[in-house]
Amino acid sequence: MANSPSGDSVTERLIRVLETFTPARTVQTAADIGRRAGLPASSAHRIVGELVDAGMLERDDDRRIRIGMRLWELATRSSHALRLRQAAMPSMERVQSRVREHTQLAILEQDEALFLERLSSPESGSNVTRIAGRLPLHASSSGLVLLAYADRALQERVLSGPLMSVTSETITEPSLLRRKLAEVRTIGHAVAPGYIEAVSTGVAVPVHDETGDVAAALSVVLRRDAPTEPALRELFAAAREIERALGGRR
Ligand code: PHB
Repeated sequence: MANSPSGDSVTERLIRVLETFTPARTVQTAADIGRRAGLPASSAHRIVGELVDAGMLERDDDRRIRIGMRLWELATRSSHALRLRQAAMPSMERVQSRVREHTQLAILEQDEALFLERLSSPESGSNVTRIAGRLPLHASSSGLVLLAYADRALQERVLSGPLMSVTSETITEPSLLRRKLAEVRTIGHAVAPGYIEAVSTGVAVPVHDETGDVAAALSVVLRRDAPTEPALRELFAAAREIERALGGRR
């Protein structure tokens, strides 16, 4: 791979360009991309231009740049996430129509919970989750489920902190988090009252793949003091159904 005078490869520069896009920053100028990616303006303009020509980035009428549909198409079409999402959608729709609160599907990705899907209706309450957004593992019900069934090394990495306090109720004490994870494994689900926003309680259950590993967490975001039992019943039924759709024998 050809290197620039600063020694970074074409691939590294490309990744830095793409990673300047975040959930909060979806549109930017080529100059801003260059600055944020730490690239000389000429390199930034060339890379952005080539990515626009290939459809991986798009230029709007004000010449600002956004992620292109071709990149979305390639990433979505060939990903493992698509299979999981397709297997989950019918069951998620049923949960959402019965519980009438945000219903979401998350996977473990680079030590965070990454949300593949979120179904909501106008009467659903507050929710900080975004599709293709992330939440900390220790501070959300989905994250707690994913962490409780994750491998030992990842658990210890997260437990060794820092455990960021999102609200006054987020578990930030490693010994308490360890106890919470043991509880999740014992009862088979996670309840996170006020951990990520004071007004909501997240409730999540694991979804296993055909090998029996936990592939995802299925959750609903309830109003803080709503009963969790009816939602949990729906979540467990939906998780079994998704597991069957994924080819499991559970
Ligand atoms: C949770 O999963 O615990 C959760 C997620 C989003 C919220 C509230 C709770 O807005």
